[in-house]
Amino acid sequence: MNKKKIIVSITGASGSVYAKLLMDNLLQLSSQIEKVGVVMSDNAKEVWRFELGNSDYDHYPFDFYQKMDFNAPFASGSAKFDTMIIIPCSMGTLGRIAHGISNDLISRAADVILKERRKLIAVVRDTPFSLIHINNMKTVTEAGGIICPANPSFYSIPKTIEDVAQTVVSRVIDLAGLEQDSYRWNDNNS
Ligand SMILES: Cc1cc2nc3c(=O)[nH]c(=O)nc-3n(C[C@H](O)[C@H](O)[C@H](O)COP(=O)(O)O)c2cc1C
Repeated sequence: MNKKKIIVSITGASGSVYAKLLMDNLLQLSSQIEKVGVVMSDNAKEVWRFELGNSDYDHYPFDFYQKMDFNAPFASGSAKFDTMIIIPCSMGTLGRIAHGISNDLISRAADVILKERRKLIAVVRDTPFSLIHINNMKTVTEAGGIICPANPSFYSIPKTIEDVAQTVVSRVIDLAGLEQDSYRWNDNNS
């Protein structure tokens, strides 16, 4: 298996726990990964501090980039990152991506991933959706992106908030093409 080069973007939607769990999961899957680059929006840091009560977002052994750093490798298609995961993805970031407004590293990296026909996974979070949100999700889907809403499932009978959030993160890990031993519906071997 080719080791993956993954961009993790964290934006200011509710659900910092999804970003935390994803980074925890990627650490465990490090044998399948060559590189992880992380870029956060300003509001992502704010929401993380509010929801998780700490500033531990940069306590991971990944490459962190400032949101306006267009010198980051994945600001160009030539760096050949395979996959970008935006988790959680705000409606603002979704809109910028849908309309090609590459005015920060997150929207530029997504623009690059789409133009290079690589994998973009947007874990969108808001409720309810306006027609603007729905149209933006449609546009990103038509451009080749995957909209993976932050909608947890409950058929694994999760016990904690983290168990609930992990149901979303496990789907993201699957979509990213990483191998992980996670709950599978009616799989007698798991
Ligand atoms: C506590 C908190 C929760 C928020 N939750 C959401 C949300 O679930 N979805 C969303 O689209 N925006 C949410 N927002 C608003 C975004 O942070 C705001 O629109 C921001 O401009 C998005 O910019 P960004 O995509 O660059 O982070 C929230 C803001 C705060 C402070």
